Amino acid sequence: MRRKLAAGNWKMNGLAADLAQIDMLVAALPSCDVDVLICPPTTLLERMSRRATGIFTGAQDCHAATNGAHTGDVSAAMLVDAGASHVILGHSERRADHGETDAAVCAKLLAAWAADLVAVVCVGETQAQYESGETLDVIRRQLAGSIPDGPTSARLVVAYEPVWAIGTGLVPSLAEIGAVHGFIRAELAARFGERTAQGVRLLYGGSVKPGNAAQIFAVADVDGALVGGASLKADDFVPIVTALNAA
Ligand code: PGA
Repeated sequence: MRRKLAAGNWKMNGLAADLAQIDMLVAALPSCDVDVLICPPTTLLERMSRRATGIFTGAQDCHAATNGAHTGDVSAAMLVDAGASHVILGHSERRADHGETDAAVCAKLLAAWAADLVAVVCVGETQAQYESGETLDVIRRQLAGSIPDGPTSARLVVAYEPVWAIGTGLVPSLAEIGAVHGFIRAELAARFGERTAQGVRLLYGGSVKPGNAAQIFAVADVDGALVGGASLKADDFVPIVTALNAA
């Protein structure tokens, strides 16, 4: 059985005052059979980790090197030192804004694993790729290039995030979400074996809201969500966690 995971990605949002949202989240969480993860900006990671009782905290990126002359970057060990248990890698915003290639993402996964972080690796097609029917080819390529050999189901999570669904209010049909998630699990099985593939959590991400969460969580092979905008406020995120718990 895969334990469900509700993950929040705060992106470049949040100041000290917003830590109050975490207190509200902790207070409002149902007694839960799901894992809850919040990935705040790095500046809040340590403070959030200290007060987020019962919630995992994670980062949104790490450098591939363990340390050294990389001005402005943060290593996986530093994230662990600040309280992180997870790290999002290969988010489409980093692929677009920072030119991160699959090979770069792959190197970061190795660094994350070496530091004992769980890697939440993101894949997803652009609108143009979606419209030209390339979705599965893109996903296949990103999975092959971004995930190194040697994953275990405990340290790998895959998030399917269509780029065109992020922050837009657009969501693929439930059939499309199911098809892509099934495809991802089959790709993982072909490369890493059925046992590993059956244990890896697959998240859907892209405009998940309290109003659509339950439907999305009912789709086969969806083990949770990676939530951006609706993770910033406890009032939005709690109903999403509750819907996942009920799924
Ligand atoms: P969104 O972002 O929920 O705001 O669409 C999702 C993500 O980018 O992880």
